[in-house]
Amino acid sequence: MAILKVARLGHPVLRQPAKAVPVGEIRAPETQRLIDDLIETMREYDGAGLAANQVHTLKQVCVIEVLENPRYPDAPHVPLTVVINPVVTPLGDEMEAGWEGCLSVPDMRGLVERYTAVRLQCYDRQGQHVDLIAKEFFARVIQHETDHLNGIVYLDRMRDLSTLAHIAEWNKQWLGTREHAD
Ligand code: NI
Repeated sequence: MAILKVARLGHPVLRQPAKAVPVGEIRAPETQRLIDDLIETMREYDGAGLAANQVHTLKQVCVIEVLENPRYPDAPHVPLTVVINPVVTPLGDEMEAGWEGCLSVPDMRGLVERYTAVRLQCYDRQGQHVDLIAKEFFARVIQHETDHLNGIVYLDRMRDLSTLAHIAEWNKQWLGTREHAD
């Protein structure tokens, strides 16, 4: 396993769509190594998730995990979830604004509208088909990470760029204002 270099905003790899992983290659050592490295890198940098684009690999693979996370102290826990070739479908029209950050946009936070519930269809790291319904923070992270696989970053989803804040100012102004956050 290895901690990989994370691409920052401006690197073209963040703006390119990732390619689907052939199902027969999911269990191949190369794919398994990518998954392990994504997990290790996400944990090293306290990410809530990490997409392969962010480590310079255009494959539709992302990982999500939220435990005790100093970057998201208010966030509910999400168990480790490996997502390959995702299809995300909103369940209903309801959206909610919540704060997001991104390891590729260091030290920033912004308020982003996301669907409050989504259906996620994908494969797991064993190549098994997954079909689940996610709500609230888990739904938000799924939308954020799968956007990465389509070359989209959270800034593109912001409706009001005036909420974009440096983390040091955000900690002073917003931390604990639960009515605005997840
Ligand atoms: Ni991100």
